[in-house]
Amino acid sequence: MDNESLTLAEGQKHGQAAEQKPVPDQARPSDTPPACLSLAVLSGKGGVGKTSLTLNLALALEEAGAKTLVVDGDLGLANIDVLLGIAPDGSLQDFLLGRARLEDLVVRVSPGLDVLPAASGAEDLVTVTQASRGLLADSLAPHLAGYGFVFLDLGAGIAANVRELSALARMKLVVTTPEPTALTDCYALMKVLNASQGTTDFACIVNSVQEEGEEAFTVQRLGGACSRFLGFEPRFLGAVRQDPAVAKAVCLREPLLRSFPESGAAKDIRAIARRLLAERARMQMQGLLDPPLVLPDDSPQADRAALLAKKPS
Ligand SMILES: Nc1ncnc2c1ncn2[C@@H]1O[C@H](COP(=O)(O)OP(=O)(O)O)[C@@H](O)[C@H]1O
Ligand SMILES: [Mg+2]
Repeated sequence: MDNESLTLAEGQKHGQAAEQKPVPDQARPSDTPPACLSLAVLSGKGGVGKTSLTLNLALALEEAGAKTLVVDGDLGLANIDVLLGIAPDGSLQDFLLGRARLEDLVVRVSPGLDVLPAASGAEDLVTVTQASRGLLADSLAPHLAGYGFVFLDLGAGIAANVRELSALARMKLVVTTPEPTALTDCYALMKVLNASQGTTDFACIVNSVQEEGEEAFTVQRLGGACSRFLGFEPRFLGAVRQDPAVAKAVCLREPLLRSFPESGAAKDIRAIARRLLAERARMQMQGLLDPPLVLPDDSPQADRAALLAKKPS
C-alpha cells in the first residue's frame, strides 16, 4: 500500500477528526435573480448514492423554490427513470446521435423538476467526445435560463464519458461513503480530474453515515490525504445518514422526499440543499456562474455534421 492509500485507509478511528470548516446556511439576499449552477455528481466507487442524492436534492431545492434540471449522464447504466417510476420515450443518447431534439426529450416530473433521461445498457452506442460535449452544451445553453440548478448525474469512476461530461459543470460534487474503498476511489477520482483538467475545487457529500463521529472521521481522512498529496482539500457540504427509508423508496420507485419526507435522511438532504443555495449565491456574487456551463478551451465548436458522420448505420 502506498502512502496515499495508507493515509486514507489507516490511522485514527472515529471521533478524532480536525474541525470541519463551517458552510454558511443562509444565502445573502440579492436583487439579481439567481443564476444557474451546474453540478457534475461524481464518485470513484459505484453504488454510493449519487442518483438517489441527486433526485432528492432536486426535490429539496424545489421545496425551497428553485427549479432544477437533472441530466442522466450515466450513459451505460442509466436509472433515474427507474427511481422515478417513469418510462420516457427517448434518451440523451438519441440526442447525441442526432435522432431527437433536446427539448422533446425533457420530462417534467414536477413543477420544479425536469429530467433528461438516458437509456440503459447502451454503453457502446455513444462515446462522448469533445464534439458531442460541445453540441450538448450549445443545445442546453438556451434552455438553462429558467433553471436554478442543473445536475449531471454521472457514472462512477474515471471513464472518458465521465471526464468529458464533468468538464461541463461549474461544480464538481463528489459523493463517497465512509468505507475505505469508497474513500480511496474518491481520492483517485479527484487526483485524475486534477491531473487531466486542473480541477482543484471539489465539493463533497458523505453518504450512508452509520455512527457518530464517522462523518468527521471521513472528512479528516479524505481532506488530509488531498491536502497532503494533492495540495487542495474538497469543501464538505454535509453528510446523509444511512437510513432504511432510502432503500424502501427505491423499491417503491418514488423519491425519498416524497415517500418518506420526515425520515432522517430526508432531513439531512434538505440541510445540504440549503448549503447548495448558499454556494450558488456565493458563486454568483463572485461572478462564477456565467455562462452556466463551461466549455473548456480544448472543446471545438459543436459540429453536428462531424458527429452525425459517426452515426452507426
Ligand atoms: N443514505 C442511504 N441510506 C441507505 N441506503 C442508501 C443511502 N443512499 C443510497 N442508498 C442505497 O444505495 C443504493 C445505490 O444508490 P444509487 O443512488 O443508485 O447509487 P449510485 O448512483 O452512486 O450508483 C440505493 O439503491 C439505495 O438503496
Ligand atoms: Mg447512479
